Amino acid sequence: MDKIIIHGGKRLLGTIPVSGAKNSALTLIPCALLTDEPLTLRNLPRLADIDGFQHLMNQFGVSTTIAGSRPQDFGRVMTLEATRITNTTAPYELVRKMRASILVLGPMLARMGEATVSLPGGCAIGNRPIDLHLKALEAMGAEIELAAGYVRARAPDGGLPGGEYDFPVVSVGATENALMAAATAKGETRLLNAAREPEIVDLCKLLVAMGAEIEGIGGSDLTIHGVTRLHGATYEVMPDRIEAGSYACAAAITGGEVTLKGARPEEMSATNHALRNAGVRVEPVKGGLHVAADGALRPLTLSTAPYPGFATDMQAQLMALLCRAEGSSVLTETIFENRYMHVPELNRMGAHVETKGRTAVVHGVPGLHGAEVMATDLRASMSLVIAGLAAAGETQVHRLYHLDRGYERLEEKLALLGAEVERVGD
Ligand code: UD1
Repeated sequence: MDKIIIHGGKRLLGTIPVSGAKNSALTLIPCALLTDEPLTLRNLPRLADIDGFQHLMNQFGVSTTIAGSRPQDFGRVMTLEATRITNTTAPYELVRKMRASILVLGPMLARMGEATVSLPGGCAIGNRPIDLHLKALEAMGAEIELAAGYVRARAPDGGLPGGEYDFPVVSVGATENALMAAATAKGETRLLNAAREPEIVDLCKLLVAMGAEIEGIGGSDLTIHGVTRLHGATYEVMPDRIEAGSYACAAAITGGEVTLKGARPEEMSATNHALRNAGVRVEPVKGGLHVAADGALRPLTLSTAPYPGFATDMQAQLMALLCRAEGSSVLTETIFENRYMHVPELNRMGAHVETKGRTAVVHGVPGLHGAEVMATDLRASMSLVIAGLAAAGETQVHRLYHLDRGYERLEEKLALLGAEVERVGD
């Protein structure tokens, strides 16, 4: 298993491109199931999760081709063609490895009138149930059965009628599944208290490009008028706001100065606001975002929240940064119950973070030191990399496969900014 070795203490300087958004790509790819025409997605990041999703689509009989990708390029172009779907089951071996596989439930049900998906089971950042995905589909007329670890959804003859669902909790994935299923329903669907994340807007834009009729895009009340068929499209995946925010934290902790090419500041307001309050200069520039810090950081009090609030996917990286602030910060995680697994590892690097339930108190320390560390999820792993970039001496981050799930060519991008990093086999 690969690990990453970082010699900390270098100021990050320069410009790097922001990759296509993983979480957007993972909901755009299953849209290929909604049409028998080709769907071409540009700017797909090269990530293990995308390869996994491609494999899942192949299992359904969807053909996939990758074009225009030289090894030195960031991003890829994938064309998916679901002319004939030969299998409607997403098996345990694939779903277990990649939770986002649940996002095939809605589009497969819409296209084939039935879909069977393994229950994803637990995951490192908490329990993560899928009850809201199922309730939203039921409200649209699906019949749901749970048996032997699988969920089986069926539509009445002639397709889903459509319906209304008011989400009791904002859920990104459940909103995505419901949107994809509603696009070709017989009638109208209203989704209330829907997630508003930019990745949801990206999904709506693709569906509209395929012929869907959606009102309220960008808001929390969405109305979808079902259409009889969707057609193919070519679409560019939005830039990854979480990747951009992660590199902004990396730049800031080293007192560096970095331009993130392609970042969309308007989709990163909560992160940028937090960074500014911490004393980091964050400025929109033509075609991206410029981040500069002089090393002095202020503490913050902050809670994670659904968009447009501060993203749970940025909590671990911001915490790493706040380890170096002058004073104590208070972070509260409101989305996932078990998202502080990076804390003991940061503390092994000389940080002083105390957790109680959903709250973490981050006492700033004058310096961090390198250590061998590992994390059990993607963003937690990135927080250790960020800490390592500012730590004295050598940091080894193990279980690199987590980072490979979500950061395209991490060590190459860091090296472009002057960091001393290398990937080595364990
Ligand atoms: C997505 C993102 C993930 C991000 C999260 C929150 C993808 C592939 N993943 O995950 O990176 O951290 O949004 O921004 O896009 N919940 C239920 N029942 C459900 C569904 C969710 O109770 O059926 C709860 C969850 O346990 C959690 C909250 O709702 O407490 C939000 O989860 P959700 O927005 O659904 O997260 P994901 O879509 O899984």
